[in-house]
Amino acid sequence: MPRDPRYDILFEPVKIGPVVAKNRFFQVPHCNGMGHAKPRSHAAMRAVKAEGGWAVVSTEEVEIHPSSDLSPYVEGRLWDDSDIPFLELMTRAVHQHGALAAIELVHAGMNAANLYSREIPLAPSHITTAANYSPSQARAMSKADIRAYRRWHRQAAVRARRAGFDVIYVYAAHSLSLPMHFLQTRHNHRSDEYGGSLVNRARLLRELIEETKEAVGGDCAVAVRFAVDELRGADGISAAGEGRELVEMLAELPDLWDVNVSDWANDSMTSRFAAEGFQEEFVRFVKSVTSKPVVGVGRFTSPDTMVSQIRRGVLDFIGAARPSIADPFLPRKIENGDIDDIRECIGCNVCVTGDSTMTPIRCTQNPTMGEEWRKGWHPERIPPRSGNDSFLIVGAGPAGLECARLLGRRGYAVHLVEAGAQLGGRVTRESRLPGLTAWARVRDYRVNQLNKMQDVVILRGSAVTAEHILEFGATRVVLATGSRWRRDGVGRANAFAIRGFDLPGRVFAPDDVIDGVGPQGATVVFDDDHYYLGALLAEKLRAGGLEVTLVTPADRVSAWTANTLEQHAIQKHLLELGVTIVTNHNVVEFDGTRATLECTFTGRHTRVSAFSIVPVTSRQPNDTLAETLDAAPDAVAAAGIASVTSIGDCLAPSTIGAAVYAGHRYAREFDWPQSDAAGFTRELPQN
Ligand SMILES: Cc1cc2nc3c(=O)[nH]c(=O)nc-3n(C[C@H](O)[C@H](O)[C@H](O)COP(=O)(O)O)c2cc1C
Ligand code: SF4
Repeated sequence: MPRDPRYDILFEPVKIGPVVAKNRFFQVPHCNGMGHAKPRSHAAMRAVKAEGGWAVVSTEEVEIHPSSDLSPYVEGRLWDDSDIPFLELMTRAVHQHGALAAIELVHAGMNAANLYSREIPLAPSHITTAANYSPSQARAMSKADIRAYRRWHRQAAVRARRAGFDVIYVYAAHSLSLPMHFLQTRHNHRSDEYGGSLVNRARLLRELIEETKEAVGGDCAVAVRFAVDELRGADGISAAGEGRELVEMLAELPDLWDVNVSDWANDSMTSRFAAEGFQEEFVRFVKSVTSKPVVGVGRFTSPDTMVSQIRRGVLDFIGAARPSIADPFLPRKIENGDIDDIRECIGCNVCVTGDSTMTPIRCTQNPTMGEEWRKGWHPERIPPRSGNDSFLIVGAGPAGLECARLLGRRGYAVHLVEAGAQLGGRVTRESRLPGLTAWARVRDYRVNQLNKMQDVVILRGSAVTAEHILEFGATRVVLATGSRWRRDGVGRANAFAIRGFDLPGRVFAPDDVIDGVGPQGATVVFDDDHYYLGALLAEKLRAGGLEVTLVTPADRVSAWTANTLEQHAIQKHLLELGVTIVTNHNVVEFDGTRATLECTFTGRHTRVSAFSIVPVTSRQPNDTLAETLDAAPDAVAAAGIASVTSIGDCLAPSTIGAAVYAGHRYAREFDWPQSDAAGFTRELPQN
């Protein structure tokens, strides 16, 4: 389809200092858990972005010195010349697709615990390190330290140019780098020319920009990433105050401004807490005070929103981290008029968990993310079918939908059978919870793709039995029947059913609450799952007017969401809604009027009023069909069925992203020879 002329403006070239970006799509820096430890995987992932049409493809934070050692987190590294060949893997791959390669040079200062290098962390003033309550302090930098840091930065810029980068970032954002720490009055208590007035606190940033330009400015563009607002009022930098003053002060110095809000959790806010384009109110002043091109972010997935940002003079470049992860081919799809095919980011921040768990990046929407090199998976290309198999997929949740989509793309005949009236399974149901509307995109993208496929038949309202399956005539059967939440409280903290959790009409599984079959009276939500659901159910019930107590054995609400940058916002939100929170307690009994809680440290018991209980503890796979067919191998063989495979939650309940991955993986690999090996190419250490 030809491109809609309304979007032409997105494909105009833009000059950035000495280089030219071929369009306005700018993949801003994002870490990925591969970085310096898995440079081939990293390069292949960036190459796919470049192939997908991003004019500029950036690295993640790249450490420039051993005193900025972010271990065990896996970022980029440019400590000395020996790192250059690994970064060159990326620049070469990106250049092959006509994109510019950008590098974000970072000295993390007090945020670097230096656990590997054992250097003492550096800061503007004597201050505790920011890393995980580490019992160490950062030391105030002397003038000699500042001179050394400027030298390291200059050297890193020269090395970056040698590695082939076209755009070189000076980084003062997210409260994660020395230049920003120097800007912040709460971190900079100096009385010399680097402390005090904004002019003084900005001195270091100014020097770094000037020196980077001096060192490489003839060949490379010098970009500044700056957080114009920390969303912490008078205590921080704000767009109405020093954020604006700083941009005004340095307006024409860099070749490009990449502006956002800080900290990282505010910048990469999930869809639960912020809508597309939410940063506009903070960054819109920037273009009025500089003639240099401006990049901004805000989970942009809609081409109309993008055009509006450009036309209204808010931004020159559409910056994107998550939208480029969910769909590396987003620009190409707009360019080719394939708007319907865009796989929109749902704003869940599962991609961020790669950083916090120090493992390769994963994405709920894009199961190929992080698998480009080690599995050779491409988000848009898949090998054609290898035989004449026909497929019956039972269950149209995230696993079944993705499996059908990909098998359909491979050219197989597929019947996708769903017992319910609606497609999407848990995605459809969970997306009705407060703030999760965007999660329905997991379903919508896939259903939309399936509707275009001739050879995929979708049957709704068809509850199938094992007999139906045997009679159906498909050569391969895929079971994707999902799971259901337990009502008996069994989970991490309780290996056996909790006494009283069988009281009729008083204990409600999460599935009941999602479906609107609600508890009454004072309600205890017992969250032993620790992801988003417990808190969301508490929120829903509280919004319905109930008195709600959330009890968790963890030390905070939704503990695992620290990995998705949401924990703070979730707990704050519940407290503001008036949900009572009890942490470090297990629920051990319910008598119909009170729940007995047990302190996880002392074992001491206390009681809270409870008319109803909602246990969010663990799930039971819906595996009856699998068990029945497993018990009848002769009947399966006689029916001409070559394999019966369970995927997703019906095999082992997990995240929506894991279900999508399971569906994708089956469709790619069902015809691979069986092997005991890892199933992917391992990236081994080299010296
Ligand atoms: C997985 C992930 C890793 C990120 N890592 C970095 C990073 O290394 N450096 C940086 O400046 N910003 C980083 N960010 C922030 C993004 O560059 C971006 O500013 C933010 O996600 C908002 O843009 P988006 O809505 O397009 O995702 C990261 C974001 C994500 C989602
Ligand atoms: S993991 Fe979630 S937030 Fe991250 S890119 Fe994918 S869909 Fe978007």
